[in-house]
Amino acid sequence: MAKLIDGKAISQAVKEETALQVAALKEKGVQVTLAVIQVGADPASCVYVRNKKKACEAVGIRSLSYELPEETSEDELLALIDELNGREDVHGILVQLPLPKHMNEERVVVHVSPYKDVDCFHPENVGALCIGKPRFVSCTPAGIVELLKRSDIQIDGKECVVVGRSNIVGKPAAQLLLAENGTVTTAHSHTSDLKEVCKRADILVVAVGKEKMITREYVKEGATVIDVGMHRSPSNKLSGDVDFEDVLPVAGAITPVPGGVGPMTIAMLMKNCLHAATLWYERQEGNRL
Ligand code: GUN
Repeated sequence: MAKLIDGKAISQAVKEETALQVAALKEKGVQVTLAVIQVGADPASCVYVRNKKKACEAVGIRSLSYELPEETSEDELLALIDELNGREDVHGILVQLPLPKHMNEERVVVHVSPYKDVDCFHPENVGALCIGKPRFVSCTPAGIVELLKRSDIQIDGKECVVVGRSNIVGKPAAQLLLAENGTVTTAHSHTSDLKEVCKRADILVVAVGKEKMITREYVKEGATVIDVGMHRSPSNKLSGDVDFEDVLPVAGAITPVPGGVGPMTIAMLMKNCLHAATLWYERQEGNRL
């Protein structure tokens, strides 16, 4: 029977540590501030944005909220980002994705100053992460590594399989596991014999966006299974990309949904906001923390 990896408890510990450092920076006259931009009212995005703002409050980070109507033009959004890029009192900028279809996400993402890119979506920051010199670390992948480390699960030398190759999760998760000396395979929809590839994994990270796709046939006895998926049933029940009940008896450790990766993403976002403000403070002449 798998051990449960408690993302709620671990994220709470990360937030408490971050709160202490946010308070220490405040003593130096810096109020860590995150600007959160949401365009339209996608129901899932509303939940995520609400939870991010709640976490800011809990950690002592000031959040500025920009809720723009669905029909906002891309130029209007870029103008808002320009304004926030230029503000000395704003350290992090988060544009909640997905954006409405009439907008070009890539163009919007590169418009955010790389110094304020707390999601680590800007190509400059993604590149820095890939060469092992990160400025920010993508929130969900950072949360995955933090969950593993704080659960004493060794990555070094282990077979890691990441299922999914999105820019937000799959690709940066593979990079981070590689940086921790894992032997990393990225599997995706064109992978032949996905079950066999997954079965090699000591650590299986699943970010495919397909409800309960990963059953026990994909999991090696004793493997650690990290489920990044989040699906809401019509009766409001949450489930992941992993068939939790089916995999539980086979895995060595597993993240539940909810209460696994989700809260970690937000905790790591808080850490990135603190980091953005710290970098800003250090860029001011003569300041060294
Ligand atoms: N949409 C889904 N996940 C994320 C995330 O981590 N950051 C942003 N900005 N949008 C998202």
